[in-house]
Amino acid sequence: MLRTHTCGQLRLSDVSQGATLCGWVQKVRDKGGMIWIDLRDRYGITQLIFEEGKTAPEVIATVRSLGREYVISASGTVQERLSKNDKIETGDIEINVTRLEILNPAKLPPFLIEDETDGGDELRMKFRYLDLRRNSVRQNLVLRHKVAQQTRQYLDSKDFIEVETPVLIKSTPEGARDFVVPSRMNPGEFYALPQSPQTFKQLLMVSGFDRYYQIVKCFRDEDLRADRQPEFTQIDCEMSFVKQEDVLNMFEGLIRHLFKTVKGIDLAEVPRMTWADAMKYYGSDKPDTRFGMQFSELNDLVKDKGFQVFDDAELVVGINASGCAEYTRKQLDELTEWVKRPQIGAKGLVYIRLNADGTIKSSVDKFYSEADLRAIADRFNAQAGDLILILSGQKAKARKQLNELRLEMGSRLGLRKPDDFKVLWVLDFPLLEYSEEEDRWFAMHHPFTAPKPEDLPLLETDPGSVRANAYDMVLNGTELGGGSVRIFQKELQGKMFEILGFTPEEARKQFGFLLEAFEYGAPPHAGLAFGLDRLCSLFGGADSIRDFIAFPKNNSGRDVMIDSPSTLHEEQLKELSIQVR
Ligand code: AMO
Repeated sequence: MLRTHTCGQLRLSDVSQGATLCGWVQKVRDKGGMIWIDLRDRYGITQLIFEEGKTAPEVIATVRSLGREYVISASGTVQERLSKNDKIETGDIEINVTRLEILNPAKLPPFLIEDETDGGDELRMKFRYLDLRRNSVRQNLVLRHKVAQQTRQYLDSKDFIEVETPVLIKSTPEGARDFVVPSRMNPGEFYALPQSPQTFKQLLMVSGFDRYYQIVKCFRDEDLRADRQPEFTQIDCEMSFVKQEDVLNMFEGLIRHLFKTVKGIDLAEVPRMTWADAMKYYGSDKPDTRFGMQFSELNDLVKDKGFQVFDDAELVVGINASGCAEYTRKQLDELTEWVKRPQIGAKGLVYIRLNADGTIKSSVDKFYSEADLRAIADRFNAQAGDLILILSGQKAKARKQLNELRLEMGSRLGLRKPDDFKVLWVLDFPLLEYSEEEDRWFAMHHPFTAPKPEDLPLLETDPGSVRANAYDMVLNGTELGGGSVRIFQKELQGKMFEILGFTPEEARKQFGFLLEAFEYGAPPHAGLAFGLDRLCSLFGGADSIRDFIAFPKNNSGRDVMIDSPSTLHEEQLKELSIQVR
């Protein structure tokens, strides 16, 4: 090897030893008589020292020709440092260099390769390979590596087998648009990239694999956000001969194992909440349970008092922002404007302030007596010093808006700490959701999810109220993973496609392979998939998954480093039987 040690390895116990290090020049400090270099590699930083008069002149000359990010090899003797640096692990020692070789010079990088960089987002993405030299970004990938390793270890210990499924497939209906790939050999026909390996893992259950997993790339052409990338990675799992309870326990075990081995945290038992309660108390199917501030519904207390807005509303619902009674008029106006922004869309905000002196004051004093207001305050168990914030309107909308306000208040009050981890199972999702736009039912999870057996009779009469044996794991308000018990009988699967508006011919054309497989002895099965990128970003205390992906896309789905997507030559298009314009 070209080196004897890494730049993170040497300690006081190595003093007087010879060593050869290789790495990148992070910094040169030239004080005339003395020159120091911070030499960096993946493992750390080691100081090199050169002294005029002692170090050979040709070595000094080479040092003076170095620039930032040059790749060098340096040999010398380890010695104790006069002024130690307790911020780095090698901070007690330095190398007194006797031989220096430039392995490769480097252009001046377009931004500082240090923890605090001066590079903007786009620039760092364009030179991602340089950004990846920075500690923080590299550490994110090391964390990702550990999560993947420990996932494999846990699942292997539970007899799961990792099986690769194809990437050139046919559309799987997971709700997003497909990325497609033209087939040269089959003119006019296209593969789709998998949104998930859903149908394949179910087929593996029919094959008798019993316990499958895969750490797998998935592709979805959807609008991008901080926690969404067009290609992302799932920890995808499926099990046979299990009930929902078994799946929850198995994967709660995985998450507990990951918290323990990667974060050193003993995770408490994961609480469970029904979807209906999550919507009622948090207005969201992925509640952030790091803080309380649960919703209280007020219809029975506020109607018929002459306040038209509440009288007309399907739902009047509020939260208690505890300790916020001293909010000024200006702050309340600002909060009202905040909920009225188009992104939130509320018509207005009603408040009740429980002043420290025991008085009570609201923005609707005209309509409500003090006793009315106290009754409302009691519903929130509010104390002097609290501020109650109330929204109203159509039920689903009011809940959604109040969810946004709750999260905003949680953030403003510092209740959403990144190093506080609250995991939650949300259970009993509705099987179907209605699209007004398309005037038809959609599968809330996907079409292979089994209805709760006790709700089966409702499938014909009241499809919207049928609950599914579907579950999501939520971590700090982010959907970390989700899955379901699957349909494994051909008849029920056929019925499901019918409800989703497929004709029998369409169902057979698109999913004939699965329906047929169900005729050859399909076992009862269930599974789920976690988002690996999301898991890593939450473990790393970050909002965006981008910095936990080595080469991510930007918000327009572009890789600005390799400049893709890009156009094709006409020849190539012709070969693929694709006509542009
Ligand atoms: P689902 O669609 O819920 O389920 O996806 C599972 C998990 O994958 C992650 N995820 C994403 N992460 C980053 N970027 C994206 N665009 C993105 N989309 C999804 C989320 C999510 O919880 N086949 C089913 C699983 C099953 O039923 O077994 C599925 O794909 O963390």
